[in-house]
Amino acid sequence: MRINKYLAHAGVASRRKAEELIKAGDVTVNGDVMTDLAYQVKSGDTVEVKQTQIYKEEPVYYVLNKPRGVISSVSDEKDRKTVMDFFRHIPERIYPVGRLDWDTSGLILMTNDGEFANLMTHPRHEIEKVYIAKVEGQANKENLRPLTQGVKIDGRKTKPAIYQIIKQDISTKKSVVQLTIHEGRNHQVKKMFEAVGLPVQKLSRVQYGTLDLTGLQPGEFRRLSKKEVSQLVNAAKGI
Ligand code: URA
Repeated sequence: MRINKYLAHAGVASRRKAEELIKAGDVTVNGDVMTDLAYQVKSGDTVEVKQTQIYKEEPVYYVLNKPRGVISSVSDEKDRKTVMDFFRHIPERIYPVGRLDWDTSGLILMTNDGEFANLMTHPRHEIEKVYIAKVEGQANKENLRPLTQGVKIDGRKTKPAIYQIIKQDISTKKSVVQLTIHEGRNHQVKKMFEAVGLPVQKLSRVQYGTLDLTGLQPGEFRRLSKKEVSQLVNAAKGI
């Protein structure tokens, strides 16, 4: 396995950051500084980063029901609660797959498998994601139709989405809409509803490919089975 990928898999850094470590001379293989970015790590090689030996971890995969008010990154400069706080007792160096906004709840995957994370988040693979949005205004066929054709956000059209109206409250002028998308652009769902004049008040992701949140209360997580992981991989590869 290529050295930068090896380091990423071991949870040391992203592949790009691992390359920087290699270029900086911080990585040794069998005691020698390794500057060849294309070096293939062989079994039996001793890899060290800043004089600390790296052990490749077994890949692990979790699904977390992220509560609102939690950041979906590894650390936060303002010291707010992050998804990592739920996994303090887990020895592997896992991180979130993609992002959910601070005020969005729901399904997020966590892993230490960089390749898997790349596969899930790469725009080419288009894993299906289902969201439930509580929006301001009365959702109906007319104002939601553009979502099925694509709306322009940040200067680029979204791919066709599927919606289902779950609830319409005529007196409060609020609606609940389920939206299925195949992309993962920044604040995508909020921006899509904004584009059709229905600002999101509350958002939750309830499905990710073949997975949903059955049995998981906010703040709870569980490990994925091998079968669930391969179902996700197959879904991403379109198999
Ligand atoms: N779309 C959003 O707007 N926010 C999220 O957290 C996820 C998708």
